[in-house]
Amino acid sequence: MPEAPVVIHDPVEMRTLTKSLKRAGKKVGCVPTMGALHEGHLSLARASVAETDVTVATIFVNPTQFAPGEDLSKYPRQLEADLKLLAEAGVQYVFNPQAETMYPPNSSTSIAPPKISRKLEGEFRPTHFGGVATIVLKLFNIVGPNVAFFGQKDFQQVAVVSQMVRDLNVPVEIRTCPIVRDTDGLALSSRNIYLSKDEREIALTINKTLAHVQKQIEDGQRDGFEVVTEMRQMLIDGGVSSIDYAAVVDPLTLESSDPIQLPVALLIAVYVGKTRLIDNCVVT
Ligand code: PAF
Repeated sequence: MPEAPVVIHDPVEMRTLTKSLKRAGKKVGCVPTMGALHEGHLSLARASVAETDVTVATIFVNPTQFAPGEDLSKYPRQLEADLKLLAEAGVQYVFNPQAETMYPPNSSTSIAPPKISRKLEGEFRPTHFGGVATIVLKLFNIVGPNVAFFGQKDFQQVAVVSQMVRDLNVPVEIRTCPIVRDTDGLALSSRNIYLSKDEREIALTINKTLAHVQKQIEDGQRDGFEVVTEMRQMLIDGGVSSIDYAAVVDPLTLESSDPIQLPVALLIAVYVGKTRLIDNCVVT
């Protein structure tokens, strides 16, 4: 049986530990998560275990990245199961703080995230990336990793974190790992458990839409407006409840690309029933 990771709740203990590991010449990797782990998270953990000497996964459902009315209270929490999965992936340490430790009553400083956070997700979840940037910086300050691993599934999150790290001279290298999909093509997400059987069928439209327009672009389609129109039509025909965005953008600036100039990122955020799902692909 793989050894269970050591769970640390206290930021000072965490910082002291990684400081001594780094002083001993160890390369430390960090995999920030909100728990409810699936193969997507585990692929990040394995990438960290492969590249670094010591991996610290963080499990913290960060309240400041949820707006009122979002799914903070029902967000899945399953620490014991997560620890088992992380042990199997070879993770040695888990930082699992309490909300009151991360945000004591008198804490009032937060990060104003970069401009690219205002588009796409930012239009529909205006407070989200402020919360993400703040917690990621706090986690980096506490864990002090050399490298941190994020999934391409949260495309804009990686862009925001990467720019924050550049803008604020944070000494952490950011790695982006590919999206992990179920055998039916649905991108793995902790929120997939909210989907009924019928909703899951509908959700498959998202990946099918991405694959369809990716092929069109690879075959020479350069009309961004037409691609977006087609994406929206396919999503509606597939039965999604509503579309937050379907976009063709420059992968670095997240500005819409029309006429299309490769590489582009195709980004989708939709509701299937009450569940909000995002997915993307990059066409090079
Ligand atoms: O991607 C996530 O799970 C979260 O946004 C993160 C990066 C752990 C910050 O809470």
